[in-house]
Amino acid sequence: MEKFIPYGKQFIDDEDIKAVVDVLKSDYITQGDKVPEFEKKLADYCGAKFAVVFNSGTSALHGAYYVLGLERDEFITTPMTFAATSNAGLYLGAKPVFVDIEPETGNIDVEKIEEKITPNTKLISVVHYAGHPVDMEKVKEIADRYNLKVVEDACHALGGKYKGEKIGSCKLSDVAIFSFHPVKHITTGEGGAVLTNDRKVYEKLLMFRNHGITKEPDKFKNQPDGSWYYEMQLLGYNYRMTDIQAALGISQLKKLDGFIKKRRQIANMYNEAFKDNPYFDLPVEKDYAYHAYHLYPIRLKDKYKDKKKEIFNKLRKEGIGVQVHYIPVYWHPYYQQLGYEKGIFPKSEDFYKREISLPIYPAMKKEDIEFVIEKIWKVFNEI
Ligand SMILES: Cc1ncc(COP(=O)(O)O)c(C=O)c1O
Repeated sequence: MEKFIPYGKQFIDDEDIKAVVDVLKSDYITQGDKVPEFEKKLADYCGAKFAVVFNSGTSALHGAYYVLGLERDEFITTPMTFAATSNAGLYLGAKPVFVDIEPETGNIDVEKIEEKITPNTKLISVVHYAGHPVDMEKVKEIADRYNLKVVEDACHALGGKYKGEKIGSCKLSDVAIFSFHPVKHITTGEGGAVLTNDRKVYEKLLMFRNHGITKEPDKFKNQPDGSWYYEMQLLGYNYRMTDIQAALGISQLKKLDGFIKKRRQIANMYNEAFKDNPYFDLPVEKDYAYHAYHLYPIRLKDKYKDKKKEIFNKLRKEGIGVQVHYIPVYWHPYYQQLGYEKGIFPKSEDFYKREISLPIYPAMKKEDIEFVIEKIWKVFNEI
C-alpha cells in the first residue's frame, strides 16, 4: 500500500491494551471504579478540583452549558470551531452569537466580544483553537464585568498552558471541556470531560450524565422508601463513559507529557523546515502560551489562497492526509436555515480560505515527518 500520513491519530501501546483487557476480565465493565479513578487523575493533572467524564466531548459541552444555566439565552462563541461547540447550546434552545477571530491564532478576537453582549447573554464559550490558548485574563475580565459564565472548549488544548497554568485548571473559567477522540491528545475511543472548581457544578454534572438521578440520601427531596431508593430530579441523559474507556484514559494520561513533547518537537521541525517560505504563514505561539499543538495549521499567503483546492488535492495524492479546520460553523446549511448569513465574519471566512492542517501526532516517526516536509516542498514548488 502507498504511504499515507493522516493529519492525526491515536498512539496505543501494550500497556494501554493490558489496561483495557484487565477491565474486560473484571466484574465491572461500566459503573465500576475506573471512571472515578480517571476523573481524579485528570483533575490532578490539570490542577482543578473536580472532573466529570462523559461519553464524548459533545455530551460534555451539553452538560457544561446545562449546568451553567444556559436556556433560551444567548451565548458568545467562535465560528472557527467544530460544530459541537455551538450545537450543544442549540440543544438547550439557546442562540449562538458568533464573534470573528484573530487570524494569527485562529482564536476568538477577545477585543470584539464586548460589542456582542446583550441583556440576554448568559455565557462566553471560547475555543483554544489548534491548542493555542485564548487570552483568558481578558475574557475573564469582560465576563466578570457583565456577570457572565466562562466555558473553555479545551478539546484542542489538553496539556497546553496559559501563563504557566495548565489548561483545565479553570482558574479563569467556570468549566473546561476536553475530548478524547482518537485524534486528540489522549484517547478513550470516544469520550470527553468537564473540569471545574465548583462543587455544585460538579454534583449537578454527575446527575446530568446519569439521567438526572441521585442515589445520595442527603440530596433526596422525598422520604426514601427503602435502601434501594433513588431519585430522578432533573432531565438528564445517559452520557456515561464505560470503565473500559476510563482504564484506557488512565493509561493514556501517563503518557500525556511525552505526547505533548513529541507534538512540540514535530511543530519545531516544521517551523524550522518552512521558516521564511514564500507560500504560507506558520502557526504562532504568543508569549503567554504553551501550545498543545493538536493541529499544525498553515495559512496560504495572498498569492496562493485561490489555489487551496489544487494544493490540498495534490498533497493528498502525494500521501499527505491534510485536513481543513474549519468550515465556519454558520456556513453549514443548518445554521443558514436558522438565519445566519455568509459574509458576516470576514476574518473567519478568509482564514477558512487559507487554512490547511498538516499531519501532527505522537506516533509520527522521524521519516514520516521528513516525508511530509519533502512532499510539501515538492507540491508548493510545482504550483
Ligand atoms: C473544538 C471542539 N469542540 C468539541 C468537539 C467535540 O468532541 P467529540 O468529538 O469528542 O464529541 C471537538 C471534536 O472534534 C472539537 O474539536
